[in-house]
Amino acid sequence: MSQEKVIVLDFGGQYNQLIARRVRECNVYCEVHPYYISLEEIKQMNPKGIIFTGGPNSAYLEQSPTCRKEIFELGIPILGICYGSQLMAHLLGGSVKTAPVSEYGKTEVTIRTESRLFTGVSADTVCWMSHTDYIETPPQGFQITGHTPVCPVAAMECAERKLYATQFHPEVMHTVEGQKMLSNFVFHICGCTGDWKMDSFVENAVEEIRKKVGSGKVLCALSGGVDSSVAAVILSKAVGKQLTCVFVDHGLLRKNEGDEVEAVFGPDGPYDLNFIRVNAQERFYKKLEGVTEPEKKRKIIGEEFIRVFEEEAKKIGAVDFLVQGTIYPDVIESGLGKSATIKSHHNVGGLPDYVDFKEIVEPLRLLFKDEVRQAGRELGIPEYLVSRQPFPGPGLGIRIIGEVTAEKVKIVQNADAIYREEIANAGLDKEISQYFAALTNMRSVGVMGDERTYDYAVALRAVTTTDFMTAECAEIPFAVLQKVMNRVVNEVKGVNRVVYDLSSKPPGTIEFE
Ligand code: XMP
Repeated sequence: MSQEKVIVLDFGGQYNQLIARRVRECNVYCEVHPYYISLEEIKQMNPKGIIFTGGPNSAYLEQSPTCRKEIFELGIPILGICYGSQLMAHLLGGSVKTAPVSEYGKTEVTIRTESRLFTGVSADTVCWMSHTDYIETPPQGFQITGHTPVCPVAAMECAERKLYATQFHPEVMHTVEGQKMLSNFVFHICGCTGDWKMDSFVENAVEEIRKKVGSGKVLCALSGGVDSSVAAVILSKAVGKQLTCVFVDHGLLRKNEGDEVEAVFGPDGPYDLNFIRVNAQERFYKKLEGVTEPEKKRKIIGEEFIRVFEEEAKKIGAVDFLVQGTIYPDVIESGLGKSATIKSHHNVGGLPDYVDFKEIVEPLRLLFKDEVRQAGRELGIPEYLVSRQPFPGPGLGIRIIGEVTAEKVKIVQNADAIYREEIANAGLDKEISQYFAALTNMRSVGVMGDERTYDYAVALRAVTTTDFMTAECAEIPFAVLQKVMNRVVNEVKGVNRVVYDLSSKPPGTIEFE
């Protein structure tokens, strides 16, 4: 890759990929490397700048992650963040100690606005701190450029050597002017021009995949979700017909979803790939007959998916590579450095690790969800696929409380389609993180056209969340809810009640099972 790039050296901090992502937001390519890569490797990459991440260790302890002092002599601008700042201070002769007062959270920092790092930043600015050690005195030749009442060196620099350091984390949102600081580093200190765009990411990914895959056969389990769709299109661009996408329709998809996926990836779609749609609805319904326990349902769906996928893989034969749409948050969840471990239950894409693949290809493993969507747009994937809300691997199976039957699937599909349509009509679809209809296992008495009914209650769910680990119930205008209720009871046979789920997570979860 000949384009300008900034590299992040990972010293074990929590936010290392976030730093890379913030730099990419400046249109500068950025990637994360372990702290122990050699100076030779760094020189070969020819970065315009280096950022040291935070980390949980103490820079002055012998066993802590460190780097060669010569890195500071390369003439490449360096920004040390938190542990990275302490390491810089320690290696260059400053003093790092346990702080008498640790700082955690939003902290007002007084900075010297003459610093290039702080151009355009307010003199008193709110920053995110999280440290128990601190720099007591900076190394010789360094100037203190920021402090708090209890932290004498909240920022320091040696401008002639292009070495900068902040005790706080400019990459997190709570550092109000953090993005400005990173942008100052990247443009005014490293001299980047910002010519990188997501399409360069795609081009590079395509090139790398071609090199890796050669003339091998590649298999992709396509769910129709954003991640696997984007991964499949990148692969298709890279290796064309060497790629086969297997799309298992387990009969638990949203209304028309199977056909929508086929329209894009099937023979009439724009991509030159082999596409296999397996209509396995009956097979799944049969396995789910009489099963009501949520975990058991999930297990059955996951396992059956694997069986179907495996059968297809065998039919294709001699597949060398398996594509996974793993994105960065998945990497965090499964533990860094476990790239070859196939997730077994997070998604229906939790594939068998015993099918004989030479290697896994994960073109999206460095990206965050919204970056994946951006890449999808660059690739010309239709907006309705790119902006899809998350959909669980077990699909409607976990949105039908109790036993799953073909009839119940139809009810929930129809109710859900109406709900989604009305949310979009009300212009709320971009504001709500996830929303769907579920079928409760409750039937109750109602009256319709003077007749007694004894039908199901549909539950509407809508949440706002950023991380899906916690969530709040979305405040949907009552008129919208009422319209959905009217349409559902009138248009969906078998439903005579609609309820709105007010629970947050915790104590509820987003899905019902
Ligand atoms: P919960 O219900 O745990 O869901 O609050 C959190 C988020 O995860 C999604 N989800 C899944 N996604 N496979 C997936 O790929 C699954 O088995 C699964 N279960 C839940 C859910 O839709 C929500 O976005």
